[in-house]
Order: sequence, then C-alpha cells, then structure tokens
Amino acid sequence: MTAVIQIENYTWQYLNTEKPALQEINLQIEAGSFVGVIGPNGSGKTSLAYSLNGLIPGQYHGIKHGTVTVLGKEVESYPAGALQRMVGLVFSDPEAQFTAMTVEDELVFGMENLGLSIPEIRERLEWVTDLVDLGHLLAKPPYEISGGQKQRVALAAVLAMMPQVMVLDEPTSMLDPLSRKRIFEVLARMKQEQQNTIIVIEHSLENLIPLADRMILLVDGQLVVEDQTRPFFQRLELLLEKGVLPPGAMRFCYELNRRGAAAGALPLTLDEAEVQLNELLRRERAPGSALPDEF
Ligand SMILES: Nc1ncnc2c1ncn2[C@@H]1O[C@H](COP(=O)(O)OP(=O)(O)OP(=O)(O)O)[C@@H](O)[C@H]1O
Ligand SMILES: [Mg+2]
Repeated sequence: MTAVIQIENYTWQYLNTEKPALQEINLQIEAGSFVGVIGPNGSGKTSLAYSLNGLIPGQYHGIKHGTVTVLGKEVESYPAGALQRMVGLVFSDPEAQFTAMTVEDELVFGMENLGLSIPEIRERLEWVTDLVDLGHLLAKPPYEISGGQKQRVALAAVLAMMPQVMVLDEPTSMLDPLSRKRIFEVLARMKQEQQNTIIVIEHSLENLIPLADRMILLVDGQLVVEDQTRPFFQRLELLLEKGVLPPGAMRFCYELNRRGAAAGALPLTLDEAEVQLNELLRRERAPGSALPDEF
C-alpha cells in the first residue's frame, strides 16, 4: 500500500486568530482506503479537508508549519488547479459548489474543465446519473431541488471528475434519515466500484462505521485517535470523554460490559450487537449462570 496523503508535523493557524485550527498533525492515508473523520464543532475537520486540496493555504491567509503531501508532492508545489483535479472536495453546503443553470450542466461543467472528449463526458454523465439516481432532475435548476437532491448533485458533480481522492465534508448534514441512507448507499457503491481514496467527515456514525476502514478523531485541532475502525471504537471510554456519541447498540453493550454482564469486543453494528446479546441470553438461561442478579 502506498500513502496518497502524508501529513507531517502540520500546524495551521488562520490569520488573526488566537490558536491554531490544526496542531501538530501527523497522518498517513493509504491509497484506496475509506477514512471517516469525526470531531466536535470547531475541532478542525473542515480545515483538514481544505488542507488536502490546497484551499488552505491557497485561498485562506494564515500561518503554516509542517508539510502536507498529496500523491507524492507538497500541496504548494502543484500548479494552479492541478491539485483540485486529483482531490475532489464536496462541500457541506452544496450550493457553495453550484455554478450552472441546470443539474446536467452542473455535472458536465467540471468534466469540460478537465478537457474530456464529448463521448467520455456522455459516458460519465450516464454513469453518475444512474449511480446517484438523478435522471429525473437533469433539466432542473440546481437551486430548485430539495436539500437532499442538492447534496446528491454536489456529490455526483465531483464524482464525475473521477478524482483520485474524494473528500466529503458532512455530505448528509442537511438530510433526513432516509436521504442520508441513500447518500451512504452511493458511498458504499463508490467504495465497491472505485479504487479511489475516500475521506468522509460525518456525524452519522451508524452509517459511517460499516464503510470506514479507518477512523480519525479530531478535538481542538489535535488528532486524538487514529486507527482501524474496530480498534478505534474499542477505546470507547476515551471517545465518550471526548464527546463522541457512539451508536446506541455500541453504547448499550459498553454499559453491559461495564456492569460485568457481557465480555469481549464492543460490537460495531446492530447485527454484531444482536449476536452478542443472543450469546448473553443463552448464557443467562444456562444452569448455574454467573451473571450478576442485577445489571
Ligand atoms: N476562515 C476562518 N478564519 C478564522 N478562523 C477560522 C476560519 N475557519 C475556521 N476557523 C476556526 O478554525 C477552527 C476549526 O474550524 P473548522 O471549521 O475547521 O472546524 P470543524 O471541525 O469543521 O467545525 P464544524 O463541525 O462546525 O464544521 C475553529 O476554531 C474555527 O473558528
Ligand atoms: Mg466543518
């Protein structure tokens, strides 16, 4: 595995602010991995996303220390526009991304900028339209569709450019649970069908956990925990202390564990929790059960 992103001793402080938004970050992201980024408000998640596609330091003023290397080159050494072709960023506010009068033009715009041929553009347009289920919306102005549809268009527009790295900043923040689930279905298909590296900043852990190979927790601009998803969540005590809200099933089994009723690794998903609870019930019904009377 090769690292597509290598961040070393990286500190970023916006101009006229009192403390750095990101502090002494060391991080390596392998090609083809799916990485989830979590952290409380103001912890530096968006600043990290901007640092990966050159918006920081390109479009923002501030002080930078350390290095951010993407696909083998430091972000500052890319010619204008070159890095953005390799690192596609889906903003948390989809409208910030829109420039065209119709959804179709919105999807085509980025591909035209890449200088793709018309047959290639047609082919990719068909592919993303199907993947993100936008066929019925192509002729509509992007401003007149629903929040969920906007977030799907924003995702599709970046996807159509097939960047090697995709960074999604809270892609479901404006969505109801069903629309959120649909975005995650798209992400699951992307993970299956594409070889690109996907980095998702997201609060919805139920949806994120089954897809993420690795997880990162940022707090106050610092990288507090970074690990494969399973070991990451085994440190639930620390995560809870840092304000992470784990899925209910995980929290429930953690409480059982704490009260001596269950043992073993914390389940990552509802299905895993069900297996654990069935095992617990089986033991509880067994003669001479060692379970505490009350838990
Ligand atoms: N343009 C800016 N100028 C000055 N300070 C900024 C700017 N953007 C962000 N900050 C500050 O940098 C810190 C990190 O902000 P950032 O937006 O990266 O956090 P975040 O984790 O994405 O938060 P949220 O969950 O609210 O989206 C915060 O203290 C914020 O106030
Ligand atoms: Mg943010």
